Amino acid sequence: MIGSYLRNRGGRAALGALFLVLVPAGGLAAQDDVSHRQCSPDGRLCFALTTVDGAPTYSVDRDGAPVIDASQLGFLLRGAGKWGSGITLGDPVRSSADETWEQPWGESRLVVDKHNEMRVRLTEQGKIKRSIDMTIRVFDDGLGFRFAFPDQPQLTDVMIDEELTEFAIAGDAEAWWIPAGEWNRYEYLYNHTPANQVGTAHSPITFRRSDGLHIALHEASLIDYSAFWLQRIDHQRFRTRLAPSSQPWKVRREAPFETPWRTILIGEDAPALYAAADIILNLNEPNRLGDVSWVKPQKYVGIWWGMHLDKWSWNAGPKHGATTDNVLEYIDFAADHGFGSVLVEGWNEGWWSESGRNFQFAVAYPDFDMDRIAKYAREKGVEIMGHHETAGNAGLYERQLEKAFDYYQRYGVHSVKTGYVADAGGVLREDPDGTEQWEYHDGQYMARHHVHVAERAAEHHIAINAHEPIKDTGLRRTYPNLVTREGARGTEYNAWGQPPNPPEHEPTLLFTRMLSGPFDLTPGIVSLEGRDGRAIPNTLARQLADYVVIYSPLQMAADLPENYAKHPDALAFIEQVPVDWEQTRVLAGDIGEYAIVARQHRGGEDWWVGGVTDAERREIPIDLSFLPKGKRYTAEIWRDGKGGGIDGDPFAMVRETREIIGGDTLTLAMEAGGGFALSLRPAS
Ligand code: NOJ
Ligand code: CA
Repeated sequence: MIGSYLRNRGGRAALGALFLVLVPAGGLAAQDDVSHRQCSPDGRLCFALTTVDGAPTYSVDRDGAPVIDASQLGFLLRGAGKWGSGITLGDPVRSSADETWEQPWGESRLVVDKHNEMRVRLTEQGKIKRSIDMTIRVFDDGLGFRFAFPDQPQLTDVMIDEELTEFAIAGDAEAWWIPAGEWNRYEYLYNHTPANQVGTAHSPITFRRSDGLHIALHEASLIDYSAFWLQRIDHQRFRTRLAPSSQPWKVRREAPFETPWRTILIGEDAPALYAAADIILNLNEPNRLGDVSWVKPQKYVGIWWGMHLDKWSWNAGPKHGATTDNVLEYIDFAADHGFGSVLVEGWNEGWWSESGRNFQFAVAYPDFDMDRIAKYAREKGVEIMGHHETAGNAGLYERQLEKAFDYYQRYGVHSVKTGYVADAGGVLREDPDGTEQWEYHDGQYMARHHVHVAERAAEHHIAINAHEPIKDTGLRRTYPNLVTREGARGTEYNAWGQPPNPPEHEPTLLFTRMLSGPFDLTPGIVSLEGRDGRAIPNTLARQLADYVVIYSPLQMAADLPENYAKHPDALAFIEQVPVDWEQTRVLAGDIGEYAIVARQHRGGEDWWVGGVTDAERREIPIDLSFLPKGKRYTAEIWRDGKGGGIDGDPFAMVRETREIIGGDTLTLAMEAGGGFALSLRPAS
């Protein structure tokens, strides 16, 4: 045992693996003799793998203190029993990487991938002797591990009924989480509870320990496998529960194959946790699409908010939104204000049929003249953003996919918003013989579906913005046309949601949902009004701040053009704010309370800073030491004015210009439900 400790590279706390000895209810369990340990490049974070009474068990420690207590691993295999007892560990194979790679677009241009890797074969002793390989990559601020089912005659057609990966959070913690397996998929307000009161949660789930350490659990590179939910099984111990499928098993694969990475992100505070999320991208495969210069981050407007306000309808009729005349007006609005494209929802036949059975993805309603619209858009230098709502009928969509993308490609469309509005478990597909099957939005079928759509779309130079999606696991690295998605409560809830999104929503999202990737929040409701004039609990400046805080390479100016006409100062910000970034720094933040984010425009010297607060007024000093010390900048500021806030006049907004110097501190008040946004340009 000591021998394997000595083989560690960079392991500071060699005896840390002694934490693995655990005492279950039934008697004393013994850690078996062999144990392998792998530490991070800075030596502070270590993963230890051993067996306890033959059960594969891991733990994680940082600076010698536990982060993840002894946690078991295993699988329930259909027709083949449980894999996970009588296991022995093979010798570790180690490697390391220190590379920097470039994103075609993103919240930072360069991403550093610096990790140490350990691969270990885990083999059953009994008669069948099935092996599973584990790969563990340890970074300074988190880690990932995955299982590979090798080619072996005794396990070829692999049917996984359940994955039994555990995460036992060490030390008292609170958690921010949304429920999994509930009808509304990922569209829930975040719960904030003690970790030992979580039910079954989606990932990312974020924990804060009483000593301040932040820990988030998620997965990376979810390809041809079922997403996991995290079921709390005991105190702060969570176990993976794979999203169900229409079949008795949850995942079926031919070996050899690999599971997605199971990831643990770690930060000393909330901003550090956000920075750790690069691990999710690093654990995805590089770009498989080659040249993706046709994927263009941009801002868009669209025939959208009018439907959510119930002013217009998606389906044809007296209130139809997607008429030729309305779209032409939006094209003018986009061209006048420099927006790249116009989203048009409700343009095609089939709205809103039960389970989407009547959708036609290449047949327009009679009052929508795509020839005329596309020609006009081209003349005005604006693109149309397509829309494919499926109502969860992913099978019908797959059958029409070629036709659907051909249609849009003919009209110069380079991005399509997809939608899967159906209750969880209500995704429809057909077997080859026509039998209908019902699937989950995050089961293996949909994991495959989203990759299939990305690949077909890429052939047509189309980027995808999926609503009611599967959760993001960083696949944008591999398929850079998976630009953004929903998968959280977005602005539509501010039209009709009960309740609307409260002010703590965005400061919570930044350190939970946003760890997984971009979110099509659709901000910019400058009227601060939902359906029937209902107030949105935000200030005007706050709607602007969201453009910087919540990252999306497609960012909507979601309100009606007539409302922007009433708020020219706010519109001026939305016109200018970039959507593609050289680098990102979360300057300050606490989950669910506030966040201040700085992003440098990609290809520019200008920086943009957004601040958001919950229902509490705050004055947080902004540390400008990320700018070159002493360098002079002109700051253009949009901030809450005196008497502002959701309990005062939420429209009270000051737009002003100040000179600031790199290294200074700037303090701007955020009123209740408010925020600020600012640009920093080198002074001439
Ligand atoms: C739900 C989406 O989130 C929303 O943006 C869209 O307008 C409707 N579905 C209709 O497709
Ligand atoms: Ca939605």
